[in-house]
Amino acid sequence: MLPDSVRAIVTGGVSGLGLAVAHRIVADGGRVALLDVNDDKGAEAVEALGADRARYLRTDVTDEAGVATNLEAARAFLGGLNAAVNCAGILGAGRVLGREAPMPLETFSRTVMVNLVGSFNVAKAAAALMQHNAPGEDGERGAIVNTASVAAYEGQIGQAAYAASKGGVVGMTLPMARELARFGIRVNTIAPGIFWTPMVDGMPEAVQQSLSASIPFPSRLGRPEEFADLVAHLLTSRYLNGETIRLDGAVRLAPK
Ligand SMILES: NC(=O)c1ccc[n+]([C@@H]2O[C@H](COP(=O)([O-])OP(=O)(O)OC[C@H]3O[C@@H](n4cnc5c(N)ncnc54)[C@H](O)[C@@H]3O)[C@@H](O)[C@H]2O)c1
Repeated sequence: MLPDSVRAIVTGGVSGLGLAVAHRIVADGGRVALLDVNDDKGAEAVEALGADRARYLRTDVTDEAGVATNLEAARAFLGGLNAAVNCAGILGAGRVLGREAPMPLETFSRTVMVNLVGSFNVAKAAAALMQHNAPGEDGERGAIVNTASVAAYEGQIGQAAYAASKGGVVGMTLPMARELARFGIRVNTIAPGIFWTPMVDGMPEAVQQSLSASIPFPSRLGRPEEFADLVAHLLTSRYLNGETIRLDGAVRLAPK
């Protein structure tokens, strides 16, 4: 699809990587619906992006009915839906055997619920709408981009829940792309390294340092705009499908 024809929902779209994606899509002439659970940041984002090009729809990605309803609302606002970008996520940090007690199962399952089940929930609801789009060139009807993490491959101590959830996102990418190929819907995933966003901002300083110390080149945290560049490319480059791309300055996370 052409950049100015992008009609996208972006989950986690009011902060960090998702917000950068929203800015990029709007700058390229597209329109976005931001699905998130942060109303204050949602209002700020729409103000910055312009209410004619962006709308905030309060949506918990784990809510099956809520996502389906809000995707319909998003499609009506956008004038169609041909792109879905999953950026909503939580860290769910914690050791399997914590200082006080083993990790509560709730921590593990909540992390998987938001990061993995939520991504699936949004992808399937988006695909359900996209399958009815008029086919474009090569029969294309839409594109889905998920966000995993390099922790899917080399999760650190304290990332068992997070790494499991992101590993699941990587794992569902190819089967989903294969299945949705008959509708002309592409599915790709980005596995970011360490990006400078509120999620990283909120981590303890020691964790931030250990995360950023070993990035080979460029030796700095990633910029959200660099993530948005790759999303824009994945949305518009039709031959890219069923792939997970690391975007990480060649970082390989150490055990801790
Ligand atoms: N920042 C990094 O270095 C980094 C690295 C690898 C992967 N990621 C992934 O990138 C994605 C975006 O991360 P970020 O750094 O921009 O974080 P962020 O905290 O700035 O943004 C995440 C957004 O998701 C929203 N969210 C959380 N739970 C939600 C739910 N149940 N329903 C809807 N929205 C929900 C939050 O309100 C927030 O606006 C996440 O999936 C994260 O795991 C980030």
